[in-house]
Amino acid sequence: MAGAVRLEPVDERNLEPLLSVAVAEAEPGDVMPPVEAPAGWSHARREAFRDYHRASFGGLDGPTRTLMYAILAGGEVVGMVRMTRCDEPGTVETGMWLGRSARGQGLGAAALRELLNAAAAAGMKAVVADTTRDNPGAVSVLSKCGAKLSEDGDKVHGEICLDSTPPAL
Ligand SMILES: CC(C)(COP(=O)(O)OP(=O)(O)OC[C@H]1O[C@@H](n2cnc3c(N)ncnc32)[C@H](O)[C@@H]1OP(=O)(O)O)[C@@H](O)C(=O)NCCC(=O)NCCS
Repeated sequence: MAGAVRLEPVDERNLEPLLSVAVAEAEPGDVMPPVEAPAGWSHARREAFRDYHRASFGGLDGPTRTLMYAILAGGEVVGMVRMTRCDEPGTVETGMWLGRSARGQGLGAAALRELLNAAAAAGMKAVVADTTRDNPGAVSVLSKCGAKLSEDGDKVHGEICLDSTPPAL
């Protein structure tokens, strides 16, 4: 199952399928920053979801310094994982979400492993992530992928050092 995960940069082709999964199987707060719009998956929030992703079509060297990937399992879009350049050179911050029906099957860890490969291929040395103690799924995914975890109150910070050996092409 986990081996069937593939990442595709978010673009106009997979943006609508990604929005459909978000609307059907996720809370807005899990998949996009807060915006002023009527509650739930209102028309305005769907538009904001599209704008939020389109803003990162320029990738790591674009205005948001963020590369977003659709997560595909069995050929279907099931969620999103991103990496964002940090001020520290060679470091990116990651975040991800999966639709409810895709959770709890190890796909999160598989997607993060793919993201680590992509980050290493982009010349990154470290991937960091921030979550909270009340998100055991996210904490477990980070630790399964080799993150060094540190806690500060409810906050959990994870840091994954990438192998310094350049990835095979
Ligand atoms: C966080 C998320 C990506 C994890 O992906 P996932 O594929 O569901 O993770 P996994 O199936 O690998 O599960 C990870 C582990 O956490 C455990 N877990 C998941 N949810 C849990 C819960 N509510 N309580 C206790 N354990 C939980 C699983 O049993 C699994 O345990 P294991 O490592 O012993 O096998 C996914 O749950 C998600 O999209 N959540 C909503 C968005 C979100 O919170 N994103 C992260 C923001 S920091």
